Amino acid sequence: MQCLIMSRLRSAVAKGKTGRRKTVEIVIPTRKRPKTSVKEEQIATSVPSSLYHTFSDPAEVVRLRSQLLSWYDKDKRELQWRTLALTESDINIRTYAVWVSEIMLQQTQVATVKDYYNRWMKRWPTVQDLAAATIEEVNQMWAGLGYYSRGRRLHEGAQKVVSELKGQMPRTVDDLLKQLPGVGRYTAAAIGSIALGQVTGAVDGNVIRVLCRLRAIGADSTSPGVTEALWGLANLLVERERPGDFNQAMMELGARICTPKGPLCSQCPVQSHCRSYHKVRVKQELKAKKLLGKLDVPDIEDCMNSGTCPLCPSEPWDDQLGVQNFPRKPVKKAPRVERTLTCVVTRPGEEGGEEYLLIRRPNKGLLAGLWEFPSLLLQDDDTEVKQKRALSDKVNRILNTCLNEHLLQYVGEVVHIFSHIHQTYVVYNLCLKERDVTQTQTEKQQWVTRSALQETAVSTGLKKIVTLFEKVDSLNGKTSKDGKRQMPEGLKNDKRLQRTKKCRSTSADGGGRQLSLSSYFKTVKEERS
Ligand code: ADE
Repeated sequence: MQCLIMSRLRSAVAKGKTGRRKTVEIVIPTRKRPKTSVKEEQIATSVPSSLYHTFSDPAEVVRLRSQLLSWYDKDKRELQWRTLALTESDINIRTYAVWVSEIMLQQTQVATVKDYYNRWMKRWPTVQDLAAATIEEVNQMWAGLGYYSRGRRLHEGAQKVVSELKGQMPRTVDDLLKQLPGVGRYTAAAIGSIALGQVTGAVDGNVIRVLCRLRAIGADSTSPGVTEALWGLANLLVERERPGDFNQAMMELGARICTPKGPLCSQCPVQSHCRSYHKVRVKQELKAKKLLGKLDVPDIEDCMNSGTCPLCPSEPWDDQLGVQNFPRKPVKKAPRVERTLTCVVTRPGEEGGEEYLLIRRPNKGLLAGLWEFPSLLLQDDDTEVKQKRALSDKVNRILNTCLNEHLLQYVGEVVHIFSHIHQTYVVYNLCLKERDVTQTQTEKQQWVTRSALQETAVSTGLKKIVTLFEKVDSLNGKTSKDGKRQMPEGLKNDKRLQRTKKCRSTSADGGGRQLSLSSYFKTVKEERS
């Protein structure tokens, strides 16, 4: 280990009541330290925090860069955006291609992004092509990727580049940050280094983990102090000749080796630089030697100021976690719990089958611009009758009708978890018998067939609602190819379903009523978007 070791404490430790460390040179701060056994205290070697949490030896930095890049060159995944970044000679196309990849990769796994990326680049290979698309086409292409504002911002950004920047993509990290909507500090740094060769580190979630483990940074990784320290480290380490590859190698290491759980330390190309790994190994050795009664125990390097150091953990080290002691995140806020009433309004299609009524969400906020079924956020204190009435009022306003709320049939519930909302959709169906009671297409509403629904920009939550609706619908009486409902074999003698079937078939005449079908389906499984 290249770093300067300030003092060996083994013999100099004076044990206070609190078990705090004391050395000849250092006045130990009074802040409560994590509890460590006396034995470990006695063998700890302190390094000033300014050295312990950084790379103070230039030769070590050179070695780390070289080891990481050799591994990356040999082991990296071939990904379309990486190929484009290396082979595309047009700087505008190259920057655009990396921009698209980085936006798609925000909050989404590489494996999921691959297909979306390839389809996107095939359809809109240049920023001009994207600018000429409609937001509806963009949303449709994005459907299923989640966090839909990302696609919208890409589209807005492309239109800005074309209309305000003469089709020229920004050329520096600063300009990327200033000129492109949805591009923050990390994304600007990633695009700048990968597409433009700008020498800057790039700190995303994977890199946070890698750096925290390499330098044993255990304070809250989202705090401003740690964030700045991590950017400082990333900027210090980044390879000057190949900044884009270096940054992607760090991300790749975090995604495949230095994983949140079950990290593969034995395969890590930079293991010899990892303070967390070193700590784990030394602790293991210590345990083994203690068992054998040996006194010749190795040193554990530790931060000299761990009591007050802003980068050290405030929680004690947990042997069970090993290197997973780093990084530390604050406890996540519990998601907001919401219930939303939603109505699947159907009408007979022109060529058999059914059509679904879709309403467009506002252009801002959650699921902006996507299509959904008429919906209403449930108020806690509303009675079920009131809720149903409010939902049917909403449908009536949309369709300009005055249908009775008793026509709404209960279908079931669907749970969908957003990053910050635990959403339960309480699903109803309104089955219209006639086509002509309803409006034609507008900007804000449309009727779509089942197959067109698949091509429409809808959320994952809506897809789950459709799955549930179709399940229940098929239990009530399968819709055959010619659009007529049929009772599934084996369920024909079931009284509850016969009743339901009757209700459904007369629902538009006012004969419908709420029936519980919960015994026939399970709520669609919880999933992350
Ligand atoms: N995550 C963000 N950017 C990435 C990239 N270029 N390669 C792999 N994973 C990433």
